[in-house]
Amino acid sequence: MSETTSVIEVCIAGTGSYLPENILTNAELAIRVDTSDEWIVTRTGIRERRIAAEGEFTSHMASKAAKNALEQAGLAAEDIELIVVATITPDTPTPATACHVQAQLGAFKAVAFDISAACAGFLYAMKICKRLISDGAFKNALIIGAEKLSTVTNWEDRATCVLFGDGAGAAVLRRSEPGEGSIVATEMGADGSLTHLLEIPGGGSACPITGENVNKHLHTLTMQGKEVFKVAVNRMKEAAEKVIERAGWHPEDIACVIPHQANLRIIDAIADRLAVPNERVFVNLHKYGNTSAAAVAIALDEANRTGVFKRGDHIVLVAFGAGLTWAAAAIRW
Ligand code: UT7
Repeated sequence: MSETTSVIEVCIAGTGSYLPENILTNAELAIRVDTSDEWIVTRTGIRERRIAAEGEFTSHMASKAAKNALEQAGLAAEDIELIVVATITPDTPTPATACHVQAQLGAFKAVAFDISAACAGFLYAMKICKRLISDGAFKNALIIGAEKLSTVTNWEDRATCVLFGDGAGAAVLRRSEPGEGSIVATEMGADGSLTHLLEIPGGGSACPITGENVNKHLHTLTMQGKEVFKVAVNRMKEAAEKVIERAGWHPEDIACVIPHQANLRIIDAIADRLAVPNERVFVNLHKYGNTSAAAVAIALDEANRTGVFKRGDHIVLVAFGAGLTWAAAAIRW
């Protein structure tokens, strides 16, 4: 699914993020499971991750990130007409976490719903909201990627527990004024024949919550890492190439690529295949690990706030996750 042009241009007016205070280091994980800082850093690039407090839910992190984004955009909660939260760790299966966020922000004029597209969710939300704004249905939207992955992590499985972290990132989308930036091209895709490669098998209608299922850790994430790795590199490369081509850009025109933060080896492989120098690829996974739908959103906010790119620069966001799903966006900042 793709599009190139729209009558009303849509820009990112502000970004925000929130990371819980509690840091879990590789050394601490090596006390719990048979792993080492050396293995984790060499195989993934991750050095530490953040873990939300017990009473800190996905919606709380989402709302904090959203407030930062609203502040930067110079908008109030009541200006927001649409809130979309991308998450695989909603506060509750229903209602949507976006509804909790709406209430926490006091954004009572906003339509609110969640989308489940795992790590690609924030960019799915971007494409959907861009279209809804450019169609004239809404003026201002909040898109949020937020996860409390620590609640769906099997802390006895060294193959997965070293990878994930908690956090949230947000962006305010609104109609562009003349001379402002815009979301130039977007792309998203899925391959449902590969659902088994990365999943939480329990907790839904196929495998409801029971004491027995929880004892078997079926409510936690499982992944066939090597298989996911290969598909991730290919799909993210293809998705990024599509938006770059539709935008009419060349690799040398791109100031910054912000990829999903799952594995430094995946990021390096994508940079290589896109022929974008590593110094133009934004990486923060050493600090936060893989925060699924939040990862690209947090990275976008950090890059934005630290001046990695400036107005008018060309940036590319690209993500990949369970589903399997993937998505990309080319943005003129
Ligand atoms: O966010 C959604 C998208 N997700 C991704 O893109 C993740 C994609 N996959 C990956 O990033 C990598 O596959 C992993 C980081 C998950 C794993 O790296 P790998 O190089 O594919 O390692 P592996 O799973 O093939 O395991 C290699 C060895 C195995 O031991 P043997 O069989 O060779 O003796 C594992 O048992 O490493 C062992 N191993 C560990 N050793 C120490 C696995 N996890 C650990 C660990 N510490 N934490």
